[in-house]
Amino acid sequence: MKPLLFYLASSQSLGESLAQHLEAELGLWEHRLFPDGETYLRVKSNCEARTVFILASLDHPNEKTLPLIFLSETLKELGASWVGLISPYLAYMRQDKRFHPGEALSSKTFAQLISRYFDGLVTVDPHLHRYHSLDEIYTIPNQVLSATPLLSDWIESKVEKPLLLGPDSESEQWVAQVAKDAKAPYVILEKTRHGDREVEVTFPSLAAYQDYQPILIDDMISTGHTLIEAIKHLKQAHLKAPICLSIHGLFAE
Ligand code: R5P
Repeated sequence: MKPLLFYLASSQSLGESLAQHLEAELGLWEHRLFPDGETYLRVKSNCEARTVFILASLDHPNEKTLPLIFLSETLKELGASWVGLISPYLAYMRQDKRFHPGEALSSKTFAQLISRYFDGLVTVDPHLHRYHSLDEIYTIPNQVLSATPLLSDWIESKVEKPLLLGPDSESEQWVAQVAKDAKAPYVILEKTRHGDREVEVTFPSLAAYQDYQPILIDDMISTGHTLIEAIKHLKQAHLKAPICLSIHGLFAE
C-alpha cells in the first residue's frame, strides 16, 4: 500500500512535489479553528495500517505544533502503523542553553514533545551548535539532510571569484563545507548578540579580497539583522555588494 502524506497548508507546494517523489497518496484532512480559538481536526483518508508522513516546516512553531500533535495522535488512533514528521526547518534549536538563569531550555522540551508523538523525524540542516547531533535531545530515529551541496553547486556555476563569509562562529560548519565544495576561500566574522534585534558583527581585514564577490552564508534568516549588520560592514570596507545565501528563510518580520 502507498504511504500517505499529509501537509500543513503552509507547506502545500513542497507537499505536492514530495508526494510525487515518494509515490505517496496525499492525505485528506480538515483543520480549522473553533470561534474560541481551539482546534477542530478531522482525518478523511483511510489510514488503517498505513505508513504516514506529515510535512510541516516549523517556522511559527507555536501555532503549528498543537494541530500537528492532534493530527499525529488521531492518525495513530485510526490505525496508522507509523507516523513520521518531515520538518524542513526544525524549530527551537537555538535555545540550546540557559543563557540567563531561569530560562526555559526549550530545545529539549520541544524535542521531548515531538519524540513523544512521532515515530521518526527528517529535517534539513538543523541549527546544531551546542548539540552535535539531534540524538542528544530527540529519542526517535531521525535523518538530517543538508542543503549545502545545492549552495556550493550554485556558487560554482554562477559566481566568479567568490569569497564566502559566515556572520558568526556557528555558521562555520555550513560555510566551511560550502567553501570546500565550491573551492572558494572563506572568512568567519564575529557576532555579539545584545538582543533579539540587536547584533554587532566585527570583521578581520578584508583588504586582500577587494576584487572578490562576497557571499554571506547563514543557516537561517530570522529578523535579518545578522545579515544587515554584516552588509553594513562590507559596504564600509568598500567590497562589492554581497550575495546572501541562506538555507532557512524565516523572514520573521
Ligand atoms: C544564529 O545563530 C543563526 O545562525 C542566525 O545567524 C540567526 O538566527 C539569524 O537571526 P536574525 O536574522 O534574526 O539576525
